[in-house]
Amino acid sequence: MKLTKKDLLKKAASDGKVHSDYTVAETLYTLFPFNDQETKSVRRSFAFIQILEKVTDPNHKHITLAAYDGKHFYTWCSDAFLNGKMKNAPAMRNIKTIAKDKAETTHLTDLYGKYAGESGCRFWAGKTCSHDNHLLATIDTDPSILDSLIDGYEGHDKRGSKGKRSTQQLLAKYSFKKHVLLQGDKGSGKTYLAHQLVDDNKWEKEFIGGHESMESMDILGHLVQSVDEHENKGQGDLFGSSTTSVISMRWKDGPLASAFRRARSGKKVALIFDELLRVPQRELNILVSALTPNAKREYVLRTQNGVGLSDEGTVIEETIVCPMENLWVIGTTNIGAQYAVDEIDEALADRFRIIRKDSEIDEMKSILNKELIARKFDIAVTKRLLHFFESHEKMRVDGKLHKLCNMRQLVEAIQLADDEGDIPETLHENMMAWVDTDMDGQPKQEQVELLTKTIDKIFT
Ligand SMILES: Nc1ncnc2c1ncn2[C@@H]1O[C@H](COP(=O)(O)OP(=O)(O)OP(=O)(O)O)[C@@H](O)[C@H]1O
Ligand SMILES: [Mg+2]
Repeated sequence: MKLTKKDLLKKAASDGKVHSDYTVAETLYTLFPFNDQETKSVRRSFAFIQILEKVTDPNHKHITLAAYDGKHFYTWCSDAFLNGKMKNAPAMRNIKTIAKDKAETTHLTDLYGKYAGESGCRFWAGKTCSHDNHLLATIDTDPSILDSLIDGYEGHDKRGSKGKRSTQQLLAKYSFKKHVLLQGDKGSGKTYLAHQLVDDNKWEKEFIGGHESMESMDILGHLVQSVDEHENKGQGDLFGSSTTSVISMRWKDGPLASAFRRARSGKKVALIFDELLRVPQRELNILVSALTPNAKREYVLRTQNGVGLSDEGTVIEETIVCPMENLWVIGTTNIGAQYAVDEIDEALADRFRIIRKDSEIDEMKSILNKELIARKFDIAVTKRLLHFFESHEKMRVDGKLHKLCNMRQLVEAIQLADDEGDIPETLHENMMAWVDTDMDGQPKQEQVELLTKTIDKIFT
């Protein structure tokens, strides 16, 4: 049944009812191939998926969805695409017409059958079932879900509501074409996003955690001592044969050499270089040369590992060559005087597309909702946490506070709270991260008072 936003909100208020036999096991916002039963056509939509799980039997699950197709909203229970029950479901056949690029095709292909094992529902078009009413109750509690669907749809269709590509879209655009450096404030989700992208696409992953005392050999690889035991046949004593230990030097791949080796064997390899600019510039030169392609569009890595002798008796150094399109580096960095990071060197900057990743309200909203659901807390808390975040930002802009509030701190307030009521207290306990200290190292009282008042006001 197609509904306008207003109609759906009305329906959510009148029919929304939490089914006490079920809990919400998972929620997900996603691009979705909407199979319209009325017109028998499949079209692009953006959906909110809510998976219900029976309290007494976690294997008993129901898939409920709300989707927006650019004009109308739809809700339904049980879905052939998501449960993969109907082999060759129409939506599956139409993936190519819905997806706009390779990343979207992969995403949708992975979504097919993601919730196999659903218990099914006798619900038929036009009527709503009790699971559907549970979804309506969620929408009634958090109507912003519908705005997120509109934003999500427009983001996919029109490069985001502000006409700009979202961070995810930029990453999809540049994947395996241009290395990227995610730059943003701490706790804004850079590292998480990099891991999520690689895992979602099932690319091979290598990881480097950059730090100030990192050396190029930590990145590339180096020789390590290895002890080999050799059996000395026939030379044993009364108790059997003897062994001799031979110490030799063997090559151990660092993440860069390992990434090259896997990319050479034909795999798509993403190398996440976390905190890239904490590493001293001279140690990063290895990366500059490794990421300089030859005329055949290949990257060439000289490992400094001796793999034999030439006719002239000189050591032959190992080189690993991989196709450019198989190796992609995703760097992350904070930027600004308050962080221990270097300015990016021009040669290195040339090899990366720099993408800003700040804390964005819409994204924070869905992440906080997810965390609250995981702890079985009321998702209405998201609104309060975002209110706190925005108040904090305002106090910072006004010069009353200097330190940032970020997503990590808000997520932790949910994760570390004893129960839902303990969330404001957990925020209070993070006070030292937000206030300045005076000459004696004591927290500035006026800032403490300001924040205390703000938290209390928002959470009472
Ligand atoms: N998409 C997401 N879904 C769920 N949780 C997320 C997401 N993005 C970030 N988070 C939460 O926010 C926290 C901070 O994210 P992350 O560690 O990626 O930030 P960062 O920008 O890399 O920070 P830093 O600059 O300090 O390294 C994560 O530990 C996680 O709890
Ligand atoms: Mg990080």
